[in-house]
Amino acid sequence: MASVRHDPAQPKVAPDERMRRSGGADGTNGVARRAEWPIPGAEVGPTVRTMTEEVAQLEAYRLSARALASRILNAQEQERVRVSRELHDDTGQALTLLLVRLQLVEGMSSEPEVRRELADLRLLVGETIDGVRRLAVHLGPSVLEDLGLRAALEWLADRVRAETGLVVALRLDCDCRNVPAEVAVAIFRVAQEALTNVVRHAQATRVDVRLGTDDDCLELLVADDGSGFAVDEAKARPIASVGLFGMAERIALVGGGLDIDSSPGAGTRIRASVPLRVEVFA
Ligand SMILES: Nc1ncnc2c1ncn2[C@@H]1O[C@H](COP(=O)(O)OP(=O)(O)OP(=O)(O)O)[C@@H](O)[C@H]1O
Ligand SMILES: [Mg+2]
Repeated sequence: MASVRHDPAQPKVAPDERMRRSGGADGTNGVARRAEWPIPGAEVGPTVRTMTEEVAQLEAYRLSARALASRILNAQEQERVRVSRELHDDTGQALTLLLVRLQLVEGMSSEPEVRRELADLRLLVGETIDGVRRLAVHLGPSVLEDLGLRAALEWLADRVRAETGLVVALRLDCDCRNVPAEVAVAIFRVAQEALTNVVRHAQATRVDVRLGTDDDCLELLVADDGSGFAVDEAKARPIASVGLFGMAERIALVGGGLDIDSSPGAGTRIRASVPLRVEVFA
């Protein structure tokens, strides 16, 4: 390895200083060139004006992007409610009617084979009704409206446990009675999306869901022990990260913040925090 020996007769000189003394790499022979400001003869007015205009334009874009996100999320929420209601009222009713008529026909037949076939069909229709009902509840906020945030989170945790076998440890440290409706919807949808992501992507064995208050903020934490992921890479794929974007945007629209802490092999922690005494600008 090459070593640099220092001549004790010479004072120690830092490399960049040596470069400056020896004439410099820029050919200025060691004479430092400093930009003069304002540059003589240059007009700074138009440059400053252009930059100010660009900053104003960027701010306008940011505000209109946020307004658009708000409208999209509201439209999505309304659409979910509409589809949920239709599933419940139309599809659900039609299937129930079908079930009743199958029962009638089954009673009218004395053929054992036909009766067996009809009984099987009845079971199938019964299962389909359960599926439609589950989907309607999942889509609509009725569980939230009917039961409130605490019970809705309990329902969500039960459902994930029953459908996936995942250990869902739920801790609710707030009575949530004073939580404004729009904050409750945002928190519930974040919990729903975060748990869906755990089931779809994390290969976790356990997920902790905690709801509590801290410094006048309502806080939701969803932490799994799964595969984790590179957050910046996922965010850089905007099309693929609608779920992450939607969570952050929902929470921002009720004046809060969302923090995603994850890396490959280290599980994922999602923390949503919403101040309970702020003007909501949704
Ligand atoms: N809990 C998690 N564990 C591991 N990877 C995750 C987790 N949550 C998100 N990811 C990763 O981040 C990506 C982006 O998540 P995001 O929810 O935005 O999209 P998605 O779930 O793939 O699709 P969708 O738009 O339907 O939600 C996922 O594709 C996945 O790779
Ligand atoms: Mg997702």
